[in-house]
Amino acid sequence: MRVFDLFNISMNIVMKGTGSAVPKRRVTNEELGRMVDTSDEWIASRTGIRARHIAVEETTTSLAVEAAEKALDDADVKAEEIDLIIASTVTPDQFLPNLACEVQAAIGAKNAAAFDVNAACSGFLFALNTAAMYLKGSGAKTALIVGAETLSKIVDWKDRSTCVLFGDGAGAAVIRAEELDVCSGILSMVQGSDGTRGGALKCGGRPLNNPFVTQQAAQAYVSMDGQEVYRFAVRTVPKVIRQAADEAGMSLDEIDLFLLHQANVRIIEAAAKQLSQPMEKFPVNLPEYGNLSAASVPVLLDYVRKQGRIQSGSRLVLAGFGAGMTWSGAVVVW
Ligand code: ACO
Repeated sequence: MRVFDLFNISMNIVMKGTGSAVPKRRVTNEELGRMVDTSDEWIASRTGIRARHIAVEETTTSLAVEAAEKALDDADVKAEEIDLIIASTVTPDQFLPNLACEVQAAIGAKNAAAFDVNAACSGFLFALNTAAMYLKGSGAKTALIVGAETLSKIVDWKDRSTCVLFGDGAGAAVIRAEELDVCSGILSMVQGSDGTRGGALKCGGRPLNNPFVTQQAAQAYVSMDGQEVYRFAVRTVPKVIRQAADEAGMSLDEIDLFLLHQANVRIIEAAAKQLSQPMEKFPVNLPEYGNLSAASVPVLLDYVRKQGRIQSGSRLVLAGFGAGMTWSGAVVVW
């Protein structure tokens, strides 16, 4: 059992390592064009997506575990050192137990408290924020954050307007409370939600099913008002980034990389333009992975680190938006 004490306020919350995992099966736009009435030209020009990885043998849990193990390796942290695991997903393999506990069991993090949060595509950042608060406000020292999805099981593969957008995968990060003189780690976090806009992007859960219900509901899939989500994202993302940078006391020009939720390259380009920042500072991996919801930001973070684009002292903005609607941003100095 973990006992949390309130004495850690002065700690820096630093990122120690990252990991990611995607399924083996790669599905191109051309292949989708043989399944529904779509084309590589339509998908790539509207979204920037060219391929996605789809789980055939993998599960949300197996991807989450693989990403978590890689993040622990990268951080050089042992599973027993983890005090807290927070997982974020909208596509768990089961209602019970939660994904974080499944990860805990698989990696042997026997000293951790483990729970899930759901904030859709903003989920990893909500989990990161929650974990950072725990580490700031308690004796807990080390946390593992995981974003993992198999969105392929909640999209309607006959609906061309949604099935082309999403992919499966998982990303993880290890964070730690450290007392440092230098200004490093998570410098600011902003978050928000607007439940009144929830209708723009939805997926129903398991319908009522008991002896007293006469009419069974149909199977629910992701449904989206694409243009409403687009307008929301283009309005919200630049605001979140500006607010996170302001809170951190940094100008946008001082930020090295903006790691945004990978939903649509046009949204990222619009954000770059509004912020008067060059597109080179906005890395993208959605041509290869599509939209990974809660896994999007941590998979991108790991991807960019593997490219060698993040060094000690690199100044990053992480930002996401998603169903709910929800949004979140953070400034992190690596
Ligand atoms: N292939 C070919 N045609 C298609 C496809 C497809 N895959 N999907 C839709 N169309 C057709 C539509 O049927 C419509 O045809 P019609 O004019 O004959 O009725 C036409 O293309 C235009 O459809 P729109 O929905 O108006 O297309 P739009 O230009 O808005 O692009 C898109 C759709 C890409 C989803 C866009 O609205 C968008 O980027 N929205 C942002 C939302 C987003 O990125 N969501 C990702 C998940 S949400 C999240 O991560 C938080």
